[in-house]
Amino acid sequence: MSSKKILVTGALGQIGTDLTEALVHRWGESQVITTDLKPQKINSSIIHKTLDVLDFQALRQIVEEHGITEIYHLAAALSAKGEQVPQWAWELNMKSLLNVLEISKVYGVRVFWPSSMAAFGPFSTIQPATQQSVMDPTTVYGISKLAGESWCAWYHRSHGIDVRSLRLPGLISWKTPPGGGTTDYAVDIFHAAVTLRPYTCFLSPNTRLPMMYMPDAIRAILELMEASSSSLTVRYSYNLTAMSFTPEELAEEIKKRIPSLSIRYEPDFRQTIADSWPREIEDSTAQKDWGWKSHYNLSSLVDEMIKGIKSIY
Ligand SMILES: NC(=O)c1ccc[n+]([C@@H]2O[C@H](COP(=O)([O-])OP(=O)(O)OC[C@H]3O[C@@H](n4cnc5c(N)ncnc54)[C@H](O)[C@@H]3O)[C@@H](O)[C@H]2O)c1
Repeated sequence: MSSKKILVTGALGQIGTDLTEALVHRWGESQVITTDLKPQKINSSIIHKTLDVLDFQALRQIVEEHGITEIYHLAAALSAKGEQVPQWAWELNMKSLLNVLEISKVYGVRVFWPSSMAAFGPFSTIQPATQQSVMDPTTVYGISKLAGESWCAWYHRSHGIDVRSLRLPGLISWKTPPGGGTTDYAVDIFHAAVTLRPYTCFLSPNTRLPMMYMPDAIRAILELMEASSSSLTVRYSYNLTAMSFTPEELAEEIKKRIPSLSIRYEPDFRQTIADSWPREIEDSTAQKDWGWKSHYNLSSLVDEMIKGIKSIY
């Protein structure tokens, strides 16, 4: 049996739902403990604790009691919600990360923490955004991600914490609704298409953004966490990408399978956020350091999403 003991924060969110399933499949149910502000999902036999990640002592106690060796720290405020409630977003994103890093320093825990393409900004949009692009985020969320990346690098350099991070693009999945980000349209549109409802998109038809199907992101997280420490040259956060598309291109691809989809465009405040992000990202450093390669393109993503969403209605 593995001596790994894994703690997932924000485990009931969009990434946490799929990641927990993958971690249980990879390491066994008894090795994984999930935590979230929300209580346990019905029918789950995984150990789950209701935990506010801002509560340092409660987090420390779980790590100590269960002999935690790895933390996947997913609890956070996302980009759109962050612009609406900035102080809350900053407090949650920064303090929780510092709590996790401080506790990991004491207990020698390996950490996964997701950054985001939101850490880039208008001056990063020289295409594609590279690993060493200028970083000038314009949102509270993006500023917290860039600061978080620097904290991860600092804790690695100053305290030898084995912290690993990915700049995730917009993630598309069907098991759990997205949590208030700027790429949520790319999930919502599938629910509308499958249930034969018209869809109103909050981004303009030609807004190109980097995107990824969730199974690719989950595999990237597992591969990064299992990579040999000596092969990792980036301790702030690795660029990661799979594809880039616009709402119009996604709608056209869905219409090939569900011709009745009707879409109109009413850009809102999220358009400004999307316009500050890169259209394309390059991830050659991740490819070189730990062998990253995406598996899904737009066509296979659309096939899988329609199949998955049909299974829940
Ligand atoms: N989903 C994406 O497209 C995407 C892209 C890039 C980066 N990320 C990053 O990945 C991480 C997870 O994202 P997600 O999409 O799963 O988010 P989500 O909003 O779907 O889930 C976050 C979870 O955290 C929980 N939470 C909120 N505040 C908490 C607190 N104080 N204590 C404990 N739990 C709390 C929520 O209940 C929720 O279940 C975040 O750091 C996010 O910035 C996500």
